[in-house]
Amino acid sequence: MMDMNMRQAIADALPHPALILTLDYKIKCANGFAESLFETKLAGLDFVRVLRQPGAIECLDKAVKTGKLKTCDLVLHLQTPRTFKASAASLASIGADCILFTLTDISAEIDAEKSRSTFVANVSHELRSPLTSLMGIVETLQGPARNDEKARDNFLDMMHGETRRMSRLVGDLLSLSKFEAKEHVTPKGEVDIPRLIRRVIAVLNESKPEYRNRIILNAPDGLPYITGDQDELTEVFQNLTENALKYSEPDTPVEVRVIQNEDTIKITIRDQGEGIAPKHLPRLTERFYRVDKGRSRETGGTGLGLAITKHILNRHRGMLSIESEIGVGSLISVTLPT
Ligand SMILES: Nc1ncnc2c1ncn2[C@@H]1O[C@H](COP(=O)(O)OP(=O)(O)O)[C@@H](O)[C@H]1O
Ligand SMILES: [Mg+2]
Repeated sequence: MMDMNMRQAIADALPHPALILTLDYKIKCANGFAESLFETKLAGLDFVRVLRQPGAIECLDKAVKTGKLKTCDLVLHLQTPRTFKASAASLASIGADCILFTLTDISAEIDAEKSRSTFVANVSHELRSPLTSLMGIVETLQGPARNDEKARDNFLDMMHGETRRMSRLVGDLLSLSKFEAKEHVTPKGEVDIPRLIRRVIAVLNESKPEYRNRIILNAPDGLPYITGDQDELTEVFQNLTENALKYSEPDTPVEVRVIQNEDTIKITIRDQGEGIAPKHLPRLTERFYRVDKGRSRETGGTGLGLAITKHILNRHRGMLSIESEIGVGSLISVTLPT
């Protein structure tokens, strides 16, 4: 026969919430994980009253009847609903008239699976629209527009636009997966932030006429270098400053400031653009999240820029904050440790 100390020792040895029950489902003992999960002392209570889950009772019944390990999924409505894999095992085989009941939180796995399938659906959707339009153009060129030279030039331009869009999307997807994979590896290298930003500005000035000479940089001399990856941080500031230029009128300035604090460097990017409504702010770094899908596509956006930015900053132990007011503009801040 198993004594109380042994039962408690078994429950305490498990890395998940665990209860030992009598054959009439009274709780004999519980480990610390179980007590913090249910936020109460459990020993002596009735299992049925604590859990109130028909699925769990059924699982216990089966375990007792068959003498085998039985499992089931349970959704517990704690502060937030969480899904657990519950298992019930009769301890009769070691001469104890009791049942070991454990719970494993599988909410994170379920969320990860959901977000994976949403991601695949989004990628397919984003690739399908340029593909559909390419297919339409090819059919037109093979058929009705076969001998129309002028139409052919137009269509070729359109095809060029669609293939560029697909290529940007695939490029951003590859970046995203690369940075996700190495998010927990700290980067090596020395980066002179003002110099890096000057280079980004020079590239943007040349990239589109409507971007030219709008960025005003304000950076003190003699800033310490930060530890980081040159190419990745270039990608961050390229995306943030391009967003500032892109989502504001061509005659408005974009102000970039570099500020040194005690053990961080803060870079702020302020635009006088359309601004972002508060409800969108928490979601902007989600993959493919765009306030205005059509608008972002027209300007060559994939909706992945801020997701990539966030991953790179996590890797650098940096922070991203976005403040914005509709009709006034946005202020994006990046803080990086020196
Ligand atoms: N400075 C800004 N002003 C207004 N909206 C912005 C700004 N920066 C980002 N956004 C919004 O956030 C969305 C996500 O940005 P991002 O991930 O870079 O994707 P995109 O490829 O569309 O630029 C954009 O589509 C836009 O709606
Ligand atoms: Mg962008």
